Amino acid sequence: MALITVDKDRCLKDGICAAECPSLIINLKDGVPDVFKGAEKFCINCGHCVAVCPTAALSHKNLSPDDCLEINQSFLPEPTKMEHFLRSRRSIRSYKKKQVSKEILEQVISIASHAPSGHNRQPVKWHVIYERQELDELCNHVIDWMKWMIQNKPEVAKALELALLVRTYESGVDVITRGAPHLIIAHGNKEDFSAPTASTIAMTWLELALPPFGLGGCWCGYFNAAATFWQPLQAALAFPEKSLSYGVMMVGFPKYQYHRIPPRNKPVITGL
Ligand SMILES: Cc1cc2nc3c(=O)[nH]c(=O)nc-3n(C[C@H](O)[C@H](O)[C@H](O)COP(=O)(O)O)c2cc1C
Repeated sequence: MALITVDKDRCLKDGICAAECPSLIINLKDGVPDVFKGAEKFCINCGHCVAVCPTAALSHKNLSPDDCLEINQSFLPEPTKMEHFLRSRRSIRSYKKKQVSKEILEQVISIASHAPSGHNRQPVKWHVIYERQELDELCNHVIDWMKWMIQNKPEVAKALELALLVRTYESGVDVITRGAPHLIIAHGNKEDFSAPTASTIAMTWLELALPPFGLGGCWCGYFNAAATFWQPLQAALAFPEKSLSYGVMMVGFPKYQYHRIPPRNKPVITGL
């Protein structure tokens, strides 16, 4: 099957698909798009050629216009709303004792999986710790890692205040996952150069996808560090071989609402 097929009756011969193809594999023959022989190996399957055609004239071997959600311009936020949305995001550290439905968690992960990745490799895999009981068991591994750090890497442990965290956790305050009902982990193959950056971006999108569903989240750096270095936690998580955790997010219904947006440091910008 050809890499692209074109409905010549619909094609406007505007060349937009060729201009937008990131791999520059589309040529125009009398204005109609075509690809050169062997182009397939350069195609990154991003779908731009299909998505950008104003008349839905172009189909890709792996994607037809019917597979794509139509963009509704009226759904897109204007700058003031977008600014307010982004600036009002907060790390949530108090959660209602209420589970989020699995369908909603799947939906926010699906939204986050639209985040960009280098060469459109989409290397991010997701793992959800759904039950709080399992999360408690995993937190014990994080505490074991912290205790090991205190013994074996005292300077790092001191800088991260790990002794205080362990004492606080053992007094009954969950300073690791803040009592969140769920944890979502983005992981990827450690041999894939694109996985760490793609995971960070996707996790950022996940956090932003939460508030419209009445949810909130908080990055879980201690858990991620333990999942990166501590074999017993890795064994408990049982990710595929070579897969490493690159981002961990607590998720749940926020117990409290925020009312104000504190200012951040003035951005340091050069070149303007
Ligand atoms: C990579 C990363 C790791 C973080 N780890 C933790 C964590 O383990 N526990 C926690 O309570 N907050 C954690 N945070 C949240 C930061 O403390 C928070 O983003 C920062 O204080 C700014 O507050 P805001 O997110 O509400 O704007 C982390 C944030 C990032 C980006």
